[in-house]
Amino acid sequence: MKVYFDNAATTALDKEVLEAMMPYLENQYGNPSSIHAFGRETRAGIELARKTIADLLNVSPGEIFFTSGGTEANNMAIKNSINTLQLTHAVSTRIEHHAVSHTLEECVKTANVKLSEVPLKEDGHVDVQVLEQLLKDNPQSLVSLMHANNEIGNMLPLEEVGAICKKYDAVFHSDTVQTMAHYQLDLQKLNIQFASCSGHKFHGPKGVGFLYINSDIKIDPFLLGGTQERNMRGGTENLYGIIGMGKAFEIAHRSMKEDTEHITALKSHMAESLKAKIPNVEFNGDCMGDSLYTVLNISLPPTDNSEMLLFNLDIAGIAASGGSACSSGSNIGSHVLEGINSDMTRPAIRFSFSKHNTIEEVEYCVDRLAELVNVPQTVL
Ligand SMILES: Cc1ncc(COP(=O)(O)O)c(C=O)c1O
Repeated sequence: MKVYFDNAATTALDKEVLEAMMPYLENQYGNPSSIHAFGRETRAGIELARKTIADLLNVSPGEIFFTSGGTEANNMAIKNSINTLQLTHAVSTRIEHHAVSHTLEECVKTANVKLSEVPLKEDGHVDVQVLEQLLKDNPQSLVSLMHANNEIGNMLPLEEVGAICKKYDAVFHSDTVQTMAHYQLDLQKLNIQFASCSGHKFHGPKGVGFLYINSDIKIDPFLLGGTQERNMRGGTENLYGIIGMGKAFEIAHRSMKEDTEHITALKSHMAESLKAKIPNVEFNGDCMGDSLYTVLNISLPPTDNSEMLLFNLDIAGIAASGGSACSSGSNIGSHVLEGINSDMTRPAIRFSFSKHNTIEEVEYCVDRLAELVNVPQTVL
């Protein structure tokens, strides 16, 4: 049996998405900036994708800027808001994706920004009271906090944080890469200036994403060159990527209710089966509380073959991950688990689900894992 439980890393491309992309790979190849019919045709495709996305987020199409993915969207929001708006203080946590944390660290070196860390509570959630105090003490800050953590699934109360940012005039960026097209977001209702998205996290193509920039905010261009993306990002657009992401966004919203119910049931079934079959299994983060329904991060009792767990699962046909910085077969440690003070001597595995997964796959995986973990240990 082949089981893919690494959907937070990337997802399978939907057939309907591929079908939407095909004409642009085969026949409709005009440069969207060309003014002739070939160009006008592909320009129309891009603008339709932009409108589809904007409508589903309840924003205006002019607030959606296509990028090469979530990493670029995060870089664009952070670097260019700090530089253009001359922000001198930024607030974040130690469990952000590296596309955020490394960008902020760079800004500390190059843009003279002071970086404050909001502490996390015991369950890994952001301490909102401390955030408020930090913003009270440091007016004109950039706040960059992810909506859902890609390793442990903890979620941020976007509305509450947005309201605090508004109260203290802070610019709010959220890395919404794991939640866009998994949750219905009404960005107009939230007080948020920047939100990042990546197409391959919801059955769209890789190498494409977008940044939502609230129209009240004006920042400098990110990539200098042509006038694409209303001068914000020079370079010929990833035409088929954008078409595919627009279609994937539409499909995800169309079937969001059923998919959410299905995946939520898989996650809770897995948690219950694990508790029944593996004594001492624990869960990292607030997995059954305010948590992303696609992610379950578990912590296992150490065994003789702890280091080989992901490798052995791989041999059994199961793809999972030890965290975003891990390659299959070895768990090299995770800054997120360290950041929430997990017991680093216990092996951790992140399972992440999609609409294509089944209860049978969950049971197969739990049984294989129980065989690997529940073995008599060497007595020294
Ligand atoms: C939370 C988060 N932010 C950013 C990214 C980066 O997105 P991309 O792969 O599109 O650059 C990822 C992908 O792993 C992610 O999970």
